[in-house]
Amino acid sequence: MKLNIALLAGDGIGPEVIDQAVKVSNAVAKKFNHEITWTAGITGAAAIDEVGEPYPDSTHEICMAADAVLFGAIGHPRFDNDPKATVRPEQGLLKMRQKLGLFANVRPTFTFPSLIDNSPLKRERIEGTDLIILRELTGGIYFGERGRKDDGNTAFDTCTYTRAEVQRLAKLGFEMAMTRSKRLCCVDKANVLETSRLWRETVQDMEKDFPEVTVSYEFVDAVAMRLVQWPNSYDVLITENLFGDILTDEASVISGSMGLMPSASIGVHTSLFEPIHGSYPQAAGKDIANPLATVLSAAMMFEDAFGLKEEAELIREVVNKSLAEGIVTEDLAGKNKAYKTSEVGDWLAKNI
Ligand code: IPM
Ligand code: MN
Repeated sequence: MKLNIALLAGDGIGPEVIDQAVKVSNAVAKKFNHEITWTAGITGAAAIDEVGEPYPDSTHEICMAADAVLFGAIGHPRFDNDPKATVRPEQGLLKMRQKLGLFANVRPTFTFPSLIDNSPLKRERIEGTDLIILRELTGGIYFGERGRKDDGNTAFDTCTYTRAEVQRLAKLGFEMAMTRSKRLCCVDKANVLETSRLWRETVQDMEKDFPEVTVSYEFVDAVAMRLVQWPNSYDVLITENLFGDILTDEASVISGSMGLMPSASIGVHTSLFEPIHGSYPQAAGKDIANPLATVLSAAMMFEDAFGLKEEAELIREVVNKSLAEGIVTEDLAGKNKAYKTSEVGDWLAKNI
């Protein structure tokens, strides 16, 4: 099969972790006789430096022409403490989501048997966790009208959702639940917010189309608590953009390391696969960052964008083997030897 992939390394540790995912993907392609064409594009602070904007049209064209996008990370500390900066790397990510129509962000949360004691949460709480947070990604407060009034002394951000936006996200959630444990949780704040009441009403209307799925409705504050108390009581959770942003970071604690969790963003045009961690600027260029989240994002890409399940499973198996054998970066090494980012990538590629 011919696989045409756009490669956006981005900022910070992005290029280093992307390199390892490329090595592993190329090894998989070789083994299964696929032909990958990688086309690199610039994003984030790197693109601001080069052309003055974080998601230039040239990059968008590369993404539109590809069958999948593999993405590293975006963000640079020089923008973080400058509230007056008008062009920011993160705008690139938002623009990319919007222009590619990536309305659903799929973030699986699971535990790795060999790492279960890495999580700050007790083993008996998290064992067996296998949940997916499906976050709406192109609507809500992230994209609503915002501004200042009253001579700059009042600021506002507005949250808007249409029924159609909720429906398309919820439909994916129901379909996903059907392939799993058939449990769907709609996370909202319907006791306060009108947008949440629209979410609840829309999902309730859709229940009749998926009679086998058991749907629960829970407030986001309660979910924040239950997610770390009894994560294995959840299967698929659907929620709006900002709630999803917060809950997915919280959920990453369950797996023991942000450096392990992959994600997929899907929608109207080309799907995008990226680790959930950020650009980790303190580690940039040091060859110490954990590449596994990006490697596992590549596995999601093989499966979801190309329907290549066996290839994806092989990547996951080799990742599990590296964890079991202690071929890990410093974040997971504890008192044992820590391997470099590139060494982990080489080991994975060799063992494919
Ligand atoms: C994420 C990130 C982004 C978000 C930022 C970098 C804009 O936190 O992908 O979760 O808030 O969506
Ligand atoms: Mn986030």
